[in-house]
Amino acid sequence: MKVACVQFCPEFKNVEANRKKLLDFLRTTDADLICFPELSFTGYFFLSRNEIEPFAFEFQSEIVKEFQYIATDLNRIVIFGFPEKFKGKIFNSAAILLPDSDLSKVYRKTHLFYKERFVFDFGDTGFFVVYDKQRDFKLGVMICYDWRFPEASRTLALMGADLIVCPSNLVTNVWHISMPSRALENKVYFMVTNRIGTETNGGESLLFNGKSGIWDYNGKLLSLASETEEDIIIAEIFPSETRDKSFNEFNNIFTDRRPELYKL
Ligand code: ACM
Repeated sequence: MKVACVQFCPEFKNVEANRKKLLDFLRTTDADLICFPELSFTGYFFLSRNEIEPFAFEFQSEIVKEFQYIATDLNRIVIFGFPEKFKGKIFNSAAILLPDSDLSKVYRKTHLFYKERFVFDFGDTGFFVVYDKQRDFKLGVMICYDWRFPEASRTLALMGADLIVCPSNLVTNVWHISMPSRALENKVYFMVTNRIGTETNGGESLLFNGKSGIWDYNGKLLSLASETEEDIIIAEIFPSETRDKSFNEFNNIFTDRRPELYKL
């Protein structure tokens, strides 16, 4: 199956412009799975709950329904980040839309980065895997700063993920060291859709440094996006190849685990 990262620069606080841009990308990108960055509809650098509130929307909203309709119509899996309003809370969430809408779910970011704690509630969904029967494919999702916690990828891999997708708004460069390791140590495909551009708020600027990437289950880079430009990267993956976790006749990275000796 073909998977795609769509890297772009969301317009800060312009949901309508970003919605149109995502729809364009979605209709013109030929892939089975398309992942957009974290907070694709709004941009990132909000400083308070009051500031983001007018731009947040529910998972059960017309905006998400429109994308669900297209995911079903084009038979694509679609992942995008958005500020999710739910029962008086606001989460930094990712919509995971499968062609069969009954399987679609929302993931709420577990680990909040930097000033996000003044904007969002801590995610309450935990990690989970969705199964696309048609492609015999299991998908796990985390969001950006979740990458700093190897427990996140390990949990998704133990749940059976073939591919871990990480919609992101990354402001450092160190993550390129980690992502291939998470792929290798869990024997899963891994992809990060980052964004580009700069946002300034409250006298502080954040630079988002692109370089979205797709890695195979040995940690080999399959495709890499530009550091500064809008870019779409695509790779072919073979989900069932991730499932045998042995790498010689005696060793298997899952059954060799000794959880009784670990402190997590
Ligand atoms: C991040 O979690 N947006 C770095």
